Amino acid sequence: MLLHLSTWAEIEAYLERSRTVVIPIGSNEQHGPTGLLGTDWLCPEIIAHEAQKEADILVAPTFNIGMAQHHLDFPGTIALRPSTFMAAIGDWARSLAHHGFTRLYFLNGHGGNVATIEAAFSELYAEASFAARPRGFALKLKNWWDLKGVFKLAHQQFPAGHGSHATPSEIAVTQWAYPDAIKAANYAPQIAPTGPIREASDFRARFPDGRMGSDPGLATPEKGAELVRLAVAGLIEEVRAFGAESGVSR
Ligand code: NI
Repeated sequence: MLLHLSTWAEIEAYLERSRTVVIPIGSNEQHGPTGLLGTDWLCPEIIAHEAQKEADILVAPTFNIGMAQHHLDFPGTIALRPSTFMAAIGDWARSLAHHGFTRLYFLNGHGGNVATIEAAFSELYAEASFAARPRGFALKLKNWWDLKGVFKLAHQQFPAGHGSHATPSEIAVTQWAYPDAIKAANYAPQIAPTGPIREASDFRARFPDGRMGSDPGLATPEKGAELVRLAVAGLIEEVRAFGAESGVSR
């Protein structure tokens, strides 16, 4: 069930049977010469949207802008500073909590978001603690590649050249979902360099075409299909377990 294609009355009815909501979260940032700018928010969205076709899961609109300052020297990247990102996550979560959602599951598609999402969670828990609210509000963060078996499969599919940015696994997932948007380029070098992540001008100097340690030329829609299938199964299992956790209301 997709929140943005539902009515308030349908959400009210859903709340009678579940208090769990899945929020795809990512970043809109350059992904090398062939990766889509939306890659990091498309991947969790694709997986969550597939999962809700197979199970009674509610998926919120995708939070599609995140921590991407280091990619700003590549056109099309849109970034939030950490304080803005935390404030926005906070109000997103407070809005859902206001309706009675007590289990918010963030499915993340961008490693650079993790520290700030966790900090936003700490703020929300601190609010609950200082206000002495009763037990029962839970936040969970999961990277899609950390769903059961997915990281292992990605490294079996791409034993060399997986890398850490503009990876063939994330690009394969978008290729499966958006075959009309598949791009091609000559990669030089075939596997991109690796190094630290600092500010935008340093990033573009170190990684001139935007890739980090990856060979996106290995991506295929078929490999993307395998990754999506496994991730969907993992997500459904995890959301069920999260919903059934003891001590969390309903
Ligand atoms: Ni990415």
